[in-house]
Amino acid sequence: MEQENATAVSGAVLTVFSTASGCGKTMLSINLAAAIAKLGFSVCLLETDTQFGDIAYALGIDPKENLHTAQAAWERDPGGFFIEDYVARVEKKGTVFFTLTAPKDIEDAYQIQPAHVKHVVKALRRKFDYIVVDTQAAFDQMNLMCIDQSTLVLFLGIVDFLPTVKNMRIGMDTLTRIGCDRERIRCILNRSGARTRLPLSDVEGILGTSFQTHLPNDFKSVTKSFETNTPIVLSGNSSLSLEIQKLAKVFTGEDFGAQPKQEPKKEKKGFFARLFGK
Ligand SMILES: Nc1ncnc2c1ncn2[C@@H]1O[C@H](COP(=O)(O)OP(=O)(O)OP(=O)(O)O)[C@@H](O)[C@H]1O
Ligand SMILES: [Mg+2]
Repeated sequence: MEQENATAVSGAVLTVFSTASGCGKTMLSINLAAAIAKLGFSVCLLETDTQFGDIAYALGIDPKENLHTAQAAWERDPGGFFIEDYVARVEKKGTVFFTLTAPKDIEDAYQIQPAHVKHVVKALRRKFDYIVVDTQAAFDQMNLMCIDQSTLVLFLGIVDFLPTVKNMRIGMDTLTRIGCDRERIRCILNRSGARTRLPLSDVEGILGTSFQTHLPNDFKSVTKSFETNTPIVLSGNSSLSLEIQKLAKVFTGEDFGAQPKQEPKKEKKGFFARLFGK
């Protein structure tokens, strides 16, 4: 695991990961980013699902810059690279967070190199309190880099069919093998209560661990969120919204002992001044 200079790179990286697609990574990433921002922290939602990312679509935004243009700028001139020029400001219901999304074109996505994105992640960590990473379901170079940079890996699972559970077990074992120890992994069950023939106790038995959080199945909230391009946590107190807000409090409070900042840190003034044009 790479050691970082704590004074140079301080933002916590929360990587939302799963071993199957369609588990709810994007849903959780967007809402966790919004919930942490609502608590008063500076947050950037980073999309590393480079080919089929859904963040811009879900939030109803069309960012001018993206992960590909950010990488290209860093490659051209690492010394003159300012991450604040590449993140898009998102404001929903009075809550502000930032996002660096995947490019629109697959050709651009194909040019993205994890070894270079690593420098973009480091730049984000210098500027934001939290970086929430929405990944694609794979143990590819990009995810290995993200996992390596992660403060916590949020391992998201759903209980539907046995192959899904088998792959989650492979995922847990692989994470441990590549050096992501269990203290850095949080197991989260999504769509809890959805109809399935697999008893949860059997699933947890196969997995070798229990889920620390259960996110309820809530078709109504996710549908409304898509229709309004508004994160669930910012529009009402459904049980899904409350569970994710609870997670945000745990990750920002209990796990790291951090305090919400009413004002940006001194060294971040230039950054916020640039973003808000002050
Ligand atoms: N708790 C939930 N209750 C009901 N529907 C949900 C829930 N979580 C996610 N969904 C829905 O399930 C679908 C898949 O979710 P999402 O796109 O977040 O998964 P993903 O893991 O990011 O998928 P991919 O691997 O394809 O990127 C979406 O339509 C989403 O709205
Ligand atoms: Mg997704």
